[in-house]
Amino acid sequence: MSSVERRLTPATQAIIDAPASIRLEALKAQPFVAYATAKRIAARLEELLTSAKSHRPASMLISGPTNNGKTMLVNRFINLHPIDDDPTADAITAKVLYVQMPPTPDPRQFYTSLLDRLNAPVRRTSILSQLQSQTLRLFEAIGLKILVIDEMHNIHSGRIEQQRAFLNLLRYISNERQIHLVGCGLITAVRALQSDEQLSNRFEHWPLPKWTSENGSRALLNTLEMTLPLKQESNLSGARLMGKILALSGGTIGEIVRLVSAAAAEAIQSGAERVDLPLIDGLRWIPPDERRRAAELSLGYRE
Ligand SMILES: Nc1ncnc2c1ncn2[C@@H]1O[C@H](COP(=O)(O)OP(=O)(O)OP(=O)(O)O)[C@@H](O)[C@H]1O
Ligand SMILES: [Mg+2]
Repeated sequence: MSSVERRLTPATQAIIDAPASIRLEALKAQPFVAYATAKRIAARLEELLTSAKSHRPASMLISGPTNNGKTMLVNRFINLHPIDDDPTADAITAKVLYVQMPPTPDPRQFYTSLLDRLNAPVRRTSILSQLQSQTLRLFEAIGLKILVIDEMHNIHSGRIEQQRAFLNLLRYISNERQIHLVGCGLITAVRALQSDEQLSNRFEHWPLPKWTSENGSRALLNTLEMTLPLKQESNLSGARLMGKILALSGGTIGEIVRLVSAAAAEAIQSGAERVDLPLIDGLRWIPPDERRRAAELSLGYRE
């Protein structure tokens, strides 16, 4: 069958007639799949970046299960707006800054990571208020507009008073320097935020739920299929194939992409050039939940 009949992304079209080795290589560098919510989140992030400063800066919380594309989304945004440390300029500028929430809501560790991120000298003897004012002064100097905080659910791992103090700290940063906060995390991050009414009002919630047959998986699989360097159509979004892919992957985008890439690699190597149910069965894919259970059992945990 001719490759012209398939809808392909330009990058995939460019290699569709290349030898198997090149197509297999391209599969390893799995391209970004721009699904609808990803596009909406990207557009909203750009909007925050260009919005005028406000005394009540809007914030976003991107929540969802592990392996479902939260970090990938914010990383793409950050890569579009890197820290500019042009040596000929007076100072570095960074409109967007990424930081991971420490394992517990520890303000000292949080400010230290922010200062490290900006290559600022951190005096280990500084007291908390000094670290705070140093960080906020730097934010002003670099023109920071958006602070991305990944693993935001770690707030939840502190004692109630620690959680409350940390939420106060976030509110203070946002108010004091009119900075938009963008949090990413598991659903427990939402619960942690809800305990501070004032702050949670400020956060728009952007959930990334698991993929099911009802919530856009057809479009996701159609877009994913356009990236596959296979000569024939697989129709991944057909009811039975989609059902199988969602069941075996547990519905997270990370696992869906890994499974479909493994299937596409097999389709290239075997010469089948399309993914179908028998090919997927032949992969003997173990769903993530079962892998986890097997690992726990091997460590001696009981069912
Ligand atoms: N839009 C996408 N297109 C292609 N692959 C994606 C996309 N989003 C995520 N992935 C794949 O899924 C994997 C998991 O994504 P990511 O690390 O962003 O998940 P996460 O939600 O941040 O998980 P965790 O909560 O464990 O940190 C990535 O390594 C990437 O391979
Ligand atoms: Mg992540």
